[in-house]
Amino acid sequence: MESLDDAGVYKLTDELAIIQTVDFFTPIVDDPYTFGQIAAANALSDVYAMGGKPLTAMNLVCFPIKSLDISVLQDILRGGADKLREAGVVLVGGHSIDDAELKYGLSVTGTVHPKRLVTNAGAKAGDKLILTKPLGTGIISTAVKAGVVNEETVAKLTRCMATLNDKASSVMQEVGVHACTDITGFGLLGHAIQVAENSQVGIEFHLASIPYFPEVIQFAQQGLCPGGLYRNKDFYSNRVEFINPIPEYMQYILFDTQTSGGLLISLSPRKAELLLDRLQQAGVEDAVSIGEVVSKPKGMVALI
Ligand code: CO
Ligand code: CO
Ligand code: CO
Repeated sequence: MESLDDAGVYKLTDELAIIQTVDFFTPIVDDPYTFGQIAAANALSDVYAMGGKPLTAMNLVCFPIKSLDISVLQDILRGGADKLREAGVVLVGGHSIDDAELKYGLSVTGTVHPKRLVTNAGAKAGDKLILTKPLGTGIISTAVKAGVVNEETVAKLTRCMATLNDKASSVMQEVGVHACTDITGFGLLGHAIQVAENSQVGIEFHLASIPYFPEVIQFAQQGLCPGGLYRNKDFYSNRVEFINPIPEYMQYILFDTQTSGGLLISLSPRKAELLLDRLQQAGVEDAVSIGEVVSKPKGMVALI
């Protein structure tokens, strides 16, 4: 099957398709166990975003065996394994190489009924858009590396990134939606533009409704931004329209690269309240409505 998403989908029978995805990256937090958890939650997310059920996973490891103690790797793998267990996913193998820079991630295989597959290409004019996690993880992770984030904020950040999108995904499948994507490296605006392009629609976000970690403002104002954020801004800015002038820090938040970010769900307005209620009941407490799908301009995102 053609894929417009981060994961590939292959139809085996009329009742069964497999979803395959792979993600790995360098550490974004200091604690190895937490990094393992976050890497696994992030890798699983592309399957959840498509409404699938992840079944198996394989570890990908690049490790500087001469300069780092092997216990660091053990802790990372334990974090990953614990997150997979929480997701009900079986670790079936992996591969490791000696590399100067530590990297960890997983390839994940899941399944979905081909008719139940949710892609980023199904958004319809009139839909409401729901986002399930706050923004700002890239900026705060950069600030963590600069050593300027207090422990409480680090804990809040890591809890958010280590949270699986499994509940959001199953609620979305119960309620029935038109499109979904997970917010990761291209930031809210980059992923929203992909939804708009692939669905041949426009998107309007209500700036005041967009959730983010409050701490992120000061770090963005200090320029503690990941490199990918500036690349997103350069690449996608010509498809974003700011109806009113907005502060630069807010633009940074909207373009911020997210790790293990939330789902952006597009669904019929008559189902939006039901979805939000069910998400609350399922413990996805940060989920909010942040805008609508419009018929045009196609492939564009407006901030109102
Ligand atoms: Co991915
Ligand atoms: Co994705
Ligand atoms: Co091998």
